[in-house]
Parts: sequence; C-alpha cells; structure tokens
Amino acid sequence: MKKAFTLLPFLLILLVSCKASAPGGLESAVAIEMKKIKIGGKDWKNPTPDNDESVKMGAEHFQHHCQVCHGLDGHNTGVPFATKMSPPVLDLGEKDVQEFADGQLKWILENGIRFTGMPGWKGILDDNEMWHVVRYMRHLPPKGSLGIPAVYQESEEEHEATEKGAAGKSEQKPHSHQHEHKHAAGEEHHH
Ligand code: HEC
Repeated sequence: MKKAFTLLPFLLILLVSCKASAPGGLESAVAIEMKKIKIGGKDWKNPTPDNDESVKMGAEHFQHHCQVCHGLDGHNTGVPFATKMSPPVLDLGEKDVQEFADGQLKWILENGIRFTGMPGWKGILDDNEMWHVVRYMRHLPPKGSLGIPAVYQESEEEHEATEKGAAGKSEQKPHSHQHEHKHAAGEEHHH
C-alpha cells in the first residue's frame, strides 16, 4: 500500500507523456503483431509449482507492484486512467494476454513493453517472484471481486471529505488533516 504511493509521481509523468492520439484499427493491429515478434521467452519453463501457494505469492507481488495500473484483480477494476492511456492498460484476463506462454509473460515482466506504459521489473522483482506473478496471472480472480485499489479509494474519500467541508460540516477537520499529513510524509520518504 505504501509502495503504491511512491509510484504515483511516476504515473503522472506517464499520463502526461501518453497523450498521443489513440491508434487506429490498422495501426494497432500492426503494433500488436510487432509486439508479438519482439517478445522473447517462449521456451522458458516456469520453475515454480503450479499450486495455490505459488498463486498466492504471485498475488502478493501483484498487489504491491501492479495494482496501480492493472487493479487488484488484473482486470483494471477501479483504475481510473486504464482506458485513457495510449495504448490502454490491457485486461490481463483477455485472450490476447492469456495466449502468451508462461515464458513470454515472464519476458514481458522483465523487459516491459516498449513505447507503452508497461514498465520492466528487472531489479525490482527477482526471477522467482516474476514466475509467481505469472502463476497469479493464470489464476486471476473474477473481475471486480477484489474491489478497488486502496490508492484510488483514498482519493475518493478525500474528495468526499472536501465536499462535506464545503457543505459546512465542522467535525470533519481532524479527519482531513490526517490525510494531508499522510501524503506529505509519503512524499518525504520517497525523495
Ligand atoms: C504504470 C502502469 C503499469 C504498471 C505499474 C504495470 N503495468 Fe502491465 N501494462 C501496462 C500497460 C499500459 C499495458 C499495455 C501495453 C500494451 O498495449 O502492450 C500493460 C500490459 C501488460 C501485460 C500484457 C502485455 C501485452 O502486451 O500483451 C502484462 C502481462 C502485464 N502488463 C503485466 C504486469 C504486471 C505483472 C505488473 C506488475 C509487476 C504490471 N504489468 C505493472 C501498464 C502497467
């Protein structure tokens, strides 16, 4: 949860730099083909066991590093900008993604996807952690079942608190003050 905050400045930069017009049908079809050619790892074998424990470990890493863009469930649930990015954040449960071999998903995690908002994770996640995340991506929970990532919930609450304040409620001030403080501390920690 704390980690998600440190990603936010980075996200803002991405959003600003991703204003390019949405690619047209043909263009994006070509882009998708190019992407498939460039993705390696096809023959890499997933060394982690295919069991609940692997999935659970993968889920934990996913919920640390990936939820800000992909949602807790991998289907972008509650991510306000998912469809506004160019290209948009993919629903990881979709056929296009699930058709990749485990090794290709691992390769994507290591390297990211060039010219998109999908970063590479080499040096952040180790090999084993990435393989666990791949396991999780094979067993994503149903869309919406895990709710909205806390980062976005919090901003909704703040928004509400501000509105209540504007409506003239007096007892909300300790609450909103605490929120401001938390954010400031998070920033300091990051720099
Ligand atoms: C800053 C936002 C962001 C974060 C954080 C992020 N992703 Fe992505 N991801 C994207 C975007 C945008 C795409 C779509 C890229 C494209 O169109 O090729 C994507 C695509 C993907 C794909 C599909 C690749 C494809 O093109 O088919 C996988 C798999 C994936 N992400 C996994 C992850 C995992 C696992 C994590 C966490 C370790 C993660 N992503 C973190 C933005 C993000």
